[in-house]
Amino acid sequence: MTSVREPVVSVLLDPDWASGSLVDDVRRGFAGHPRALPPKWLYDDAGSDLFDQITRLPEYYPFVREHAILTEHAGEIASASGATTLVELGSGTSEKTRILLDAFTSTGQLECFAPVDVSEATLRAAADQIAVSYPGVQVEAVVGDFTLHLAHLPRSTVSGGRRMVAFLGGTIGNLYREERGAFLGALADTLESGDSLLLGTDLVKSADRLISAYNDSAGVTGEFVLNSLRVLNRELGADFDLDGFSYVPFWDAHMERMDLRLRAEMPQRVSIPGADLVLDLASGEEIRVEISTKFRVSNIAAELEAAGFGITRVWTDEDGDFALTLATKP
Ligand code: SAH
Ligand code: AVI
Repeated sequence: MTSVREPVVSVLLDPDWASGSLVDDVRRGFAGHPRALPPKWLYDDAGSDLFDQITRLPEYYPFVREHAILTEHAGEIASASGATTLVELGSGTSEKTRILLDAFTSTGQLECFAPVDVSEATLRAAADQIAVSYPGVQVEAVVGDFTLHLAHLPRSTVSGGRRMVAFLGGTIGNLYREERGAFLGALADTLESGDSLLLGTDLVKSADRLISAYNDSAGVTGEFVLNSLRVLNRELGADFDLDGFSYVPFWDAHMERMDLRLRAEMPQRVSIPGADLVLDLASGEEIRVEISTKFRVSNIAAELEAAGFGITRVWTDEDGDFALTLATKP
């Protein structure tokens, strides 16, 4: 019987990351128009839990669509990648990733699984559970930021073979176009010839379906977005009054992205001592908390090729809602 190996957890975020890096983002983001915050600050423990609830909402189709594609094609993905290390960026609970882990372990090829996330408690819990479920696999979790720490992605020390980096859920759509270019370029630079990227992307569809996916009837997505202000209150001693804001998601048809904002319902003066900032918000003024870009298959290939990847294969679900692209470093 194979014994369970304890996960190795490397913490790459500075101890003051949640305050230090947040201060820079708040100063920069609140000086812009619209005022904005990077979405990584949504995922404290409460935010990670709310996201997990979102994935179970009837309106939130991306999770089930990507799940269906993985279920149908995980075996092909495992053999096409030939990888012995599976890295997962923005791994969260790694729930869907188990479909890949099943496929990669059934061929006997998987030596190392390396989930990477900023949300430490969620990552540690997921790593522990996966180590128990897949006892022959070395789990090397990284508490890190995928926009900063790509050069430190683990690789199996057993055979040193190929890596496949999974970036699922459509999380790449939460980055702006320039950020995606920088991210994909940095990833291509750090991978070796034959390594691959499995990229999940949500596809353009009717505005009605998109809006209902981000404005669910139970109000969970609104709570998730509002949680960003709770993070600022806790980490920077801010005094945002959460009752003074309403959640306003809209489809930006020109940019082909959902734009998720909080609107001040009355004029508000907010003090953010940790960032040495006082924010005067007019009535109706909005803070953008997240964008969620939707893609067309041809654009995904173009962005990957511009970054230096070759397209190996693209899979979509039968309704064409979501795409998984396997791209390889030549
Ligand atoms: N991959 C999972 C979770 C998606 S939610 C799925 O498909 O369901 C997005 C995840 O990315 C969260 O767990 C969040 O903590 C993480 N995340 C967001 N920004 C990040 C960043 N810059 N670096 C690392 N992880 C990040
Ligand atoms: C993590 N990411 C892909 C989600 C999305 O759909 O853009 C985050 C989310 N925000 C609101 N609902 C879900």
